[in-house]
Amino acid sequence: MSNTSAESEIIICRCEEVTQGEILAAIEDGATTLKGVKIRTEAGMGLCQGRTCRRLISQMLAKNRPAAGIYPPTLRPPVRAAKVSEYTGGEAGE
Ligand code: FES
Repeated sequence: MSNTSAESEIIICRCEEVTQGEILAAIEDGATTLKGVKIRTEAGMGLCQGRTCRRLISQMLAKNRPAAGIYPPTLRPPVRAAKVSEYTGGEAGE
């Protein structure tokens, strides 16, 4: 896993400001899944919930841990559907 210091400063997860170097360090530390990287770095825990960074992290895992396989993350949908008006206190269009 060779990378220059400039490459290690590249932001992979914009929401949590996690760099390429931090993700590579997590992989070296033993992370073999997206969840493992997430636990070690908090990448994927930001506002977009990994929609932006998940693919990049998966590519890094595939490149550095080819034998581990890439498993999809466990997604947690909302417990129940909710109308926006439940949060805003009124009906839509009011
Ligand atoms: S870019 Fe990683 S959680 Fe949004």
